[in-house]
Amino acid sequence: PGSPYQLVIEALTNYPQKRFYNVSKLGGTKYDVLPYSIRVLFESSIRNCDGFLVKETDAMNILDWKTKQNNVEVPFCPARVVLQDFTGIPAMVDFAAMREAVRNAGGDPVKVNPACPTDLTVDHSLQIDFILKNQEMEFGRNRERLQFFKWSSKVFKNISIIPPETGMAHQVNLEYLSRIVFEVKDFLYPDSVVGTDSHTTMVNGLGILGWGVGGIETEAVMLGMPVTLTLPEVVGCELTGTASPLATSIDIVLSITKHLRQADVAGKFVEFFGSGVSQLSVADRTTIANMCPEYGAILSFFPVDNVTLKHLKHTGKDEISVMEAYLKAVKLFRNYESSSREPEYSQVLQISLSSIIPYVSGPKRSQDRVAVNNMKSDFQACLNEKTGVKGFQIAVEKQNDIVPVQYEGNEYKLSHGCIVIAAVISCTNNCNPSVMLAAGLLAKKAVEAGLVVKPYIRTSLSPGSGMVTHYLSSSGVLPYLSKLGFEVVGYGCSTCVGNTAPLPEAIRNAIKQGDIIACGVLSGTKNFEGRLCDCVRANYLASPPLVVAYAIAGTVRIDFETEPLGTGFNGKSIYLRDIWPTRKELHTVEEECVISSMFKELKEKMEKGNKRWNSLEAPESALFPWDLKSTYIRCPSFFDKLVISPQAIENAHVLLYLGDSVTTDHISPAGSIARSSAAAKYLTNKGLTPREFNSYGARRGNDAVMTRGTFANIKLLNKFIGKPAPKTIHFPSGQTLDVFEAAELYQKEGIPVIILAGKKYGLGSSRDWAAKGPFLLGVKAVLAESYEKVHKSQLIGIGIAPLQFLPGENPNTLGLTGREQFSILFPPELSPGMTLDIKVSLHTGKVFSVIALFENDVEITLYKYGGSLNFVAQRFL
Ligand SMILES: *[C@@H]1O[C@H](CO)[C@@H](O)[C@H](O)[C@H]1NC(C)=O
Ligand SMILES: *[C@@H]1O[C@H](CO)[C@@H](O)[C@H](O)[C@H]1NC(C)=O
Ligand SMILES: *[C@@H]1O[C@H](CO)[C@@H](O)[C@H](O)[C@H]1NC(C)=O
Repeated sequence: PGSPYQLVIEALTNYPQKRFYNVSKLGGTKYDVLPYSIRVLFESSIRNCDGFLVKETDAMNILDWKTKQNNVEVPFCPARVVLQDFTGIPAMVDFAAMREAVRNAGGDPVKVNPACPTDLTVDHSLQIDFILKNQEMEFGRNRERLQFFKWSSKVFKNISIIPPETGMAHQVNLEYLSRIVFEVKDFLYPDSVVGTDSHTTMVNGLGILGWGVGGIETEAVMLGMPVTLTLPEVVGCELTGTASPLATSIDIVLSITKHLRQADVAGKFVEFFGSGVSQLSVADRTTIANMCPEYGAILSFFPVDNVTLKHLKHTGKDEISVMEAYLKAVKLFRNYESSSREPEYSQVLQISLSSIIPYVSGPKRSQDRVAVNNMKSDFQACLNEKTGVKGFQIAVEKQNDIVPVQYEGNEYKLSHGCIVIAAVISCTNNCNPSVMLAAGLLAKKAVEAGLVVKPYIRTSLSPGSGMVTHYLSSSGVLPYLSKLGFEVVGYGCSTCVGNTAPLPEAIRNAIKQGDIIACGVLSGTKNFEGRLCDCVRANYLASPPLVVAYAIAGTVRIDFETEPLGTGFNGKSIYLRDIWPTRKELHTVEEECVISSMFKELKEKMEKGNKRWNSLEAPESALFPWDLKSTYIRCPSFFDKLVISPQAIENAHVLLYLGDSVTTDHISPAGSIARSSAAAKYLTNKGLTPREFNSYGARRGNDAVMTRGTFANIKLLNKFIGKPAPKTIHFPSGQTLDVFEAAELYQKEGIPVIILAGKKYGLGSSRDWAAKGPFLLGVKAVLAESYEKVHKSQLIGIGIAPLQFLPGENPNTLGLTGREQFSILFPPELSPGMTLDIKVSLHTGKVFSVIALFENDVEITLYKYGGSLNFVAQRFL
C-alpha cells in the first residue's frame, strides 16, 4: 500500500488468488538484462516505494543499474532479519523500551512490533555451555536473558526465537528460516534477508539475496528503515565444463573461492551462471556463498533453478509450485538450457570446472598445495630437498629404508611416507555434508571389497556436530567407517589441536630409531600449529574421503592411477577408482537421506521445543516487567523525552579530544570488563564478583554497563591525558576521571558535550554501542576531520550530529585547545548536501564554519527526530 506502482499488481497465472508486483512488465527490456540479484533489489524498491524512505528515483536508479552502478546509493528493504542472541538482546531491549515510551506518551504499546519477520537464534552467548553440553548450566547462568527472549517471543508480533539446544547446524538453521518466496496474505515477493552474522550470505546458495550487516542496521530494518548500499557492481561468474570425479565438493568450493579471491570482487555482488552451476548441489552453493567474507564480495548469488527446487522438496517446503510459478513470472528463475538473454554483468569471470583437480596440502605448511596425482613424486622431492619449508633432506641411500616393527603380534614394515595418523574431521569450513558422506560411502565400498586399515594407524573421526554423526548414521555408513577404525572420538577440532591418542610405543620407537618420515593425514582446514605428534614430521590436509583412502593405502607414496590401494577379497587388486563414490551417488544419498531427515528432525525440534525452554516461565504482559536487580537486562534511556527538533548545542565542553583512526573498538570495546573500570564499579555495587562480570559483549542488554564501557578501551589516546588511558578531564572542576564519570558530571550540571577527532573517525566493523554509548554519555555532536561512512550514518541514526572541519582545517590550524566551550547553531531549515554550512562559536569569541554530513532528507529527518528509535516511536504514536 502506498506504492505508486500498484498498477502493476497482477494475479499469478493459474493461481488467481495470489498477487504480485509484475516488475518484469514494469521494467521491460531493461529488466530483462539486469543481473538476477539486481532484479531482487528492484522488486523490493517497487513494493516498498513510499516516496520518502524509498523514492521513485531510487527504483529507477536500480532499473538503470547498467549506467548507475557504483554511482548512486539505493535503499533496500529486506524481507526479514536474522539475529543472534548477542545482537538480538540490545535490539529487543530497545523494542521493549519503545513500548514503554509509547505507553508513557499515551499511545498503545501493543502496536510496537518489528516491521518485518525477525528470527532470533539463541546460540552465541551460550557457546561455552554448548561445548560443555550442559543445559542445566546454560539455563542457570543465562536465565534472565532467556526469560526476556521468551517474553519477547510471546508478546511481539513478527518475532520468532529459535531456542537454545535446538542443536542444529547453522546452515540448516538458516535454511529452515528461509522462505525463498514470501507470502503475506496471498501477496508474493522474493525472500531477502540481512543478518548480524557473516554467515548470512549462506542463503545466497538458495537464491535468497542477503548479507551480513551490523547490529544497528538490523535494528533499523526491524524499525522499518531500509539499509542503504551503493548500487553495486555485479561480477558474473560463469561455470563451464565438468569437474573431475575425484574432486570433492570441498575441492570445487575451494577452487572457486580461490578464483574469486584472485579476482577483484571486494565490495561487489557475485552472481553465478553457466551450465556448470547445475553440477553444484545446494550444499556446495551455500558453502561457496558462506565464504564471501574470505573473498570480500558482499554476496554470492545463485538464482533459484531446478536443483534448488529439488532440494526444497526434500526440506518439506510447501507450495513449491506456487514459488516456481511466481519466480518464473518475475523472471527470477534460472533455466540454464533456455536461450533467453544472459544478464549484462559488470564483468564476467569464467571458471572451468574441468580444471579442478583434487589437492592435498603439506607436508609442513597448509599453503603448500600438492595435486593428488603428483603426491608420490612430490613426497620424493621432499625427501631429497634440503631441510626447509618442504624438504626433509634424507640421504639417497636411506630413502628406501624399511624398519620392521612388532605390533599386536604381527610384524609390519615402516618406511618413509608411511601413515601413522589419519583423522577425519569435519571443521566449520567443510560442514558440507557431501564430503563426510563421501568418506563414509568410500569406507563402505572399501569394506565390501575386503580392504582394511593397518591397526597401528591412529584413526579417528571427529564430526563437527552431533548432526554429522546423525547423518552418517542415518545413511548407514557409520558402521563401515568404524570397521576401518574411524570411530567417533569427540566433537570439534580435537585432532587439529593435537589431542590425538598417543601413538603406540613400538611405533614411536621404530620411527625414532629408523629416523623415518612418518605422516599424518587429516581433513581439517587448519594449518599445523598444534603439531599432531612430535614423531610425525609430515602432515597433510586432505579431503575426508582421501584421508580414508590414504589410511587404507598406509602410505602417501602411492599413485592412485597406477597402483592399487590394497588387496581385497580373493586377492583382487583394488584401485581408488573402484571404490570412489560418484557425485551423482553422493547427491542422491545427500538429498534423499541427509537433507530430508535433517529437516524432519529440525522441524520436530522446532515444533516441540525442548523441555527446559518450554517450562521456562516468562511474563505475558505487553510491557516487560523490568527486574531492577538484573545486571543483564535494563530498560535503556533512549526515549527519556521524545524530542521533535534538534536543539542548538550551547556551551558544550569537549568530552574527548582524539586523534586519527579512532576505531569502533576504542569507542565501544567488546572484550572483558577491566576491574578498575566504571562498569566494574557498577557491577561490584550490584553485588557481583569479578568472575561474574562477563564481557561487554554479553552485557549489551544493560545500557548502564555499556555506557560505562563506552571509551573504556585502555588504548584510548585522549590528547587531554597524553598517554593511552580511558580517562579524560572534567573541565569545570579540573579533575581527571573515567570518561563515564566525567560525562555523568557534565550531565548532572546540564552541560552538553561534544567529541573532537581527527581523520577516519569510527573505523572498524560496525558496532551498535559505538553510537548508542556516546549518545547516552550526552554527546551531541562529533567534530572530526573525516569519518568512516557507516559509523557516520549510525551517529545520525542515534541522534548525534556528525560535523566535519572544512577541507584543510583541523583543531591545530584553527588554534583550538579543546578546552573551549562550543556553541553550534543549526539553520532552521536543514537541507542535504556536503556543503551545508554550520557556524561554531567558541566562548572566546572565535567563530568558524564546519560541514554537517547529512546526505539526504531521510538523514535530516532522523536527526530532527533525535534518531531512528525516536522517529519510529513517534510513528507508532
Ligand atoms: C507480467 O509481465 C510480463 C511481461 O514482462 C507478461 O509476459 C506477463 O503476462 C505478465 N503477467 C503475469 C501474470 O505473468
Ligand atoms: C510483520 O511483518 C509484516 C511484513 O512481513 C508487516 O507487513 C506487518 O505489518 C508486521 N506486523 C506488525 C504487527 O507490525
Ligand atoms: C537441472 O537441469 C539441468 C539442465 O538445465 C540438468 O542437466 C540437470 O540434470 C537438472 N537437475 C535436476 C536436479 O533436475
